[in-house]
Amino acid sequence: MRRPGILARYWEWLDLPEHTVPLSLSEGDTPLIPMPRLAEALGGGFELFVKYEGLNPTGSFKDRGLAAAVGEAVGRGARTVICASTGNTAAATAAYAARAGVRALVLVPEGKIARGKLAGALAYGAQVVQVRGSFDHALALVREAVAHYPVALVNSINPYRLQGQQTAAFEIVDALGRAPDWLAIPVGNAGNITAYWMGFRAYHRAKGTGLPRLLGVQAAGAAPLVLGHPVENPETVATAIRIGKPARGAEALAAARESGGRIIAVPDEEILAMQRLLAAEGVWVEPASAAGLAGLAAEIRRAALDPRGKTIVAVVTGHGLKDPDAVLRTAGADLPTIEPVLDALTPWL
Ligand code: F0G
Repeated sequence: MRRPGILARYWEWLDLPEHTVPLSLSEGDTPLIPMPRLAEALGGGFELFVKYEGLNPTGSFKDRGLAAAVGEAVGRGARTVICASTGNTAAATAAYAARAGVRALVLVPEGKIARGKLAGALAYGAQVVQVRGSFDHALALVREAVAHYPVALVNSINPYRLQGQQTAAFEIVDALGRAPDWLAIPVGNAGNITAYWMGFRAYHRAKGTGLPRLLGVQAAGAAPLVLGHPVENPETVATAIRIGKPARGAEALAAARESGGRIIAVPDEEILAMQRLLAAEGVWVEPASAAGLAGLAAEIRRAALDPRGKTIVAVVTGHGLKDPDAVLRTAGADLPTIEPVLDALTPWL
């Protein structure tokens, strides 16, 4: 059966203006995949699922938010949508703008966007402009542009982005029958964790489905919410979350605190190790997407979180294909090449 997309499925749950155009690329309805071997590797005795957001149409969770935000912008007459992006928002904005027949202008930090994302944004026909600086510089420029020109901002400062993205929380509760005990999630600009908390609370208010504790996870080189101050030159292999001044930082901290959870940071090596562990159980994600689970592993290891008897969901936010270089740089470096004869193959048999 065709999947109808998040606006059609959850329309009555979303606080969107009447004029919103119901855009859809059949986003959402992503699988909640059990990860028994990974749970065992983390000590066992609990249920672990990943919410595989890489299976959205453009390969990341951003499709949920952009369906709503571009739909709203187009409904009020916008002809150009604009965003700053570390890559995934760029591709999703480009796709939904293409779907709606409007122009997308996306600003990305020069040289710091994974190839699959840049290719995606270009393939969908966006105008891509590279900015000398980080995502934070690009977002500041976007804010300035919308103050002076008739272009619609679709970064997660736009409240409709969060309306769309909270549908992932609805889906998790719909699938489990209640909220999980913990939700582990990567944090960059901090819109997604804010949206999840909004979604879990809305469902809980209406249906008494419970609330998870939130474990938000930043990369150690880009961890303003852990350090308590902006980071001027954020640096991490997880380029998606290479952000030093998160726009929704205050809300994210409040959400984590209210939930009885926290926001922590993990080093790049642990993010990459978790990316490999996930792939070893069949789920390939981009580096940033492994951050939530890397944080969960760290918390369990230092006995700061007792998983036993719990149901834990980790949001894996983007597909591994988004960032092929992250794998090829290491695993692809020394591939053997042989003549097409059996003798040459025997060392591997
Ligand atoms: N994971 C991935 C794969 C992302 O692309 C992002 C954000 C995040 C996690 C963090 O989500 O910003 O809501 O806290 N990417 C944005 C972008 C910044 O431009 O694509 P967040």
